[in-house]
Amino acid sequence: MDRLRLGINIDHVATIRNARGGATPDPVRAALAAQSAGADGITAHLREDRRHVRDADMAAIAEAIDIPLNFEMAATEEMSRIAQATRPHAICLVPERREERTTEGGLEVAGDANRLTGFIAPLVDAGARISLFVAPDPRQVEAAFRVGAQVVELHTGTYCDAVAEDRHDEAAAELDRLAAAAKAADELGLEVHAGHGITYDSVGPLAAIPQVVELNIGHFLIGEAVFRGLDGAIAEMRRLMDLARSAA
Ligand code: PXP
Repeated sequence: MDRLRLGINIDHVATIRNARGGATPDPVRAALAAQSAGADGITAHLREDRRHVRDADMAAIAEAIDIPLNFEMAATEEMSRIAQATRPHAICLVPERREERTTEGGLEVAGDANRLTGFIAPLVDAGARISLFVAPDPRQVEAAFRVGAQVVELHTGTYCDAVAEDRHDEAAAELDRLAAAAKAADELGLEVHAGHGITYDSVGPLAAIPQVVELNIGHFLIGEAVFRGLDGAIAEMRRLMDLARSAA
């Protein structure tokens, strides 16, 4: 199996900065530190309400890093304009609701296929790889293929919550759904990523799904960096990913 890529989401460095309204900690510095620590890509989510990363952060990160930038955003005209100006390697479309604390579910692709097809086409023409963040649901995976995405990112939140709360049967059932969705996506020719809520305790079984080629991890690693530094936090995640991958 190929080496699994690790994308680091630096949103919550901006969350901490914004708590005081100043300039530190700087998400660009975090992106560069993650790159030095072996990240294979940087992810940042420019939300409509700019609650963490802001427009200037996105532009500065795109300029500063040498590894791929994954621009996470809602499928809105405003974001399409900003993404086309930023020219990221990849764009990950996610659902967004103002009142949510984080991206709570996957994108409704099947029910919004016509609009998404039209939304995605100019972004592909601008050179971005399009990823859709979906629940591990075969209907959504198949719809992602139909609307012209090249990648699906499977939402691992339900699985990771079940692991964190020791709900073993639910974790096992959700892991089966993730593995089946990964296989179905791969058979359609979609590249398979996974992310949301991943910790040291939940990463192993996800890393062992053979069709998954990239994990995107943010909140847990930024928190863990308080105790181990970003370098140490990322190195331990990398170690656990590689271990699970080689054992699979
Ligand atoms: N992937 C996607 C598409 C996300 O929306 C998020 C959260 O912003 C992540 C990965 C990272 O999730 P977490 O911060 O829980 O690791």
